[in-house]
Amino acid sequence: MKTAIYPGSFDPVTYGHIEIISRAAKLFDRLIVLVSVNMLKPASFTVEERKKMLTETVAREGFANVEVDSSDGLLIDYFNKSKADVIVRGLRAISDFEYEFQMAQTNRRLCYKAETIFLASKTEYTYLSSSMVKQIAAFGGDISDFVPEYLLGRITERFNKRKD
Ligand code: PNS
Repeated sequence: MKTAIYPGSFDPVTYGHIEIISRAAKLFDRLIVLVSVNMLKPASFTVEERKKMLTETVAREGFANVEVDSSDGLLIDYFNKSKADVIVRGLRAISDFEYEFQMAQTNRRLCYKAETIFLASKTEYTYLSSSMVKQIAAFGGDISDFVPEYLLGRITERFNKRKD
């Protein structure tokens, strides 16, 4: 049985992430979507909120072999603890490459068994990022093309509150 971990900030989850989850779930027996802390990015949603949004997404999309978890430590520690086989990341554009390559190499240095595989994003999502979604929401723009309808209220409400 092959287990993959798809780690990320998911702040919030977008259609781009969901597309990667859907494809990775078909490639592995078990997929753990892991909400992790990126120290370089300030988060707009708590880890619990992000986990809840992902759990709802997984249930609604009917991804039977996908679990959602969170970690406030090193990805590699979670990888070892969960006895995973692979780390999955989405690659949107060449601009992602340097950062992703550095992360993959670092994780492999920390644990030689930690293979990272990259799934190339679907063309229509290559421009999409959580940061972009947050910027649009913060200025009152329409984010319905980027995140599922059942998460819209939660995301827009967060930024409406900030404007008060
Ligand atoms: O969605 P992101 O922000 O690009 O995901 C990056 C993330 C959260 C996967 C990365 O920052 C991470 O692995 N954080 C956990 C702490 C860790 O292991 N850092 C070293 C990575 S080489």
